Amino acid sequence: MTRETATSSRKRDHLLICAEKPIEAGDAGFEDVRLVHNALPECNMDAIETKTQFLGRTLNSPLFIAAMTGGHPDTLEVNRRLARAADRYNIQLRDHGIEWAERAVEMIDAQAIAIHVNSLQEAIQPEGDHNAEGCLDALRNLCDEFPLPVIVKETGSGISAGTARIIRGAGADAIDIGGYGGTSWAKIERLRADDSGLADLGEAFLSWGIPTVVSLCEVRTAGGPIIATGGLRSGIDIAKAVALGASLGGMALPLLKPAMESEDALFAAVERIHRELCVAMFLTGSRTTRDLRHARAYITGLTRQMIENSD
Ligand SMILES: Cc1cc2nc3c(=O)[nH]c(=O)nc-3n(C[C@H](O)[C@H](O)[C@H](O)COP(=O)(O)O)c2cc1C
Repeated sequence: MTRETATSSRKRDHLLICAEKPIEAGDAGFEDVRLVHNALPECNMDAIETKTQFLGRTLNSPLFIAAMTGGHPDTLEVNRRLARAADRYNIQLRDHGIEWAERAVEMIDAQAIAIHVNSLQEAIQPEGDHNAEGCLDALRNLCDEFPLPVIVKETGSGISAGTARIIRGAGADAIDIGGYGGTSWAKIERLRADDSGLADLGEAFLSWGIPTVVSLCEVRTAGGPIIATGGLRSGIDIAKAVALGASLGGMALPLLKPAMESEDALFAAVERIHRELCVAMFLTGSRTTRDLRHARAYITGLTRQMIENSD
């Protein structure tokens, strides 16, 4: 099998496992966050403005379709539906990694490039790349030379304050924290593994990573735009993420399942998420996403303890 065919068939495996098996692990921390209710919101729920600025563009909503799939003919229709939803609701769709940069940008007329970092997944997948040396230099070069904004994205283990400062120092324009508590690559690779040693390794790392809410509170100390991804499951979670400092709230699994069903199911899911977001904005007295950024939140439990231990 060529490298390209192997990647393509791995992507298809991932998609099928994600659609059919329980692949979430842990707690992203959103249950520990409660937005402070405003009993006198003094705004009109039907005139809530969800428009959001991100990397110089105006999007209709902070809902972001997180990177998914690609590379196999069977994933084409799912990607088409996701692209149509992104177009219809003016929300953003993003793709792939560094090796695709030039080609991908030309092919899809992209407005930014996301470089994903996924050490945990590489460590436990059979065809994983175990050498992460030189990534920082490569990132610096890309940020220096690439004409479009560069986003650095984790894929389920989160980003700490220290790493966020290094990423920003390398010149990245935005960070997608890809925190722990949603889709778990340890779980996906454990399900894919033929080799029982790798399956056990996946099992051992099921609870590895920085929960999304904790990572968000760490990364915001480094400044710059943030996408909060990993375990967001409703418009309320998006509202919480924005109140805690994210520009956008990304979702993969909650949109993948309806996208595999039909375009109507996907549009209905996006509309449900928007409704929840609008109600949460209304109940915090936030007319705009800018107001929502100033909404207060109580943080309790393990999430609070971890944030208190942040550097
Ligand atoms: C089927 C599927 C494919 C994915 N493919 C990629 C990918 O190619 N690159 C990437 O950075 N993240 C990828 N992700 C990770 C998502 O972008 C996201 O970070 C992660 O799923 C957490 O969000 P969730 O809990 O809402 O699913 C994929 C997720 C899913 C479900």
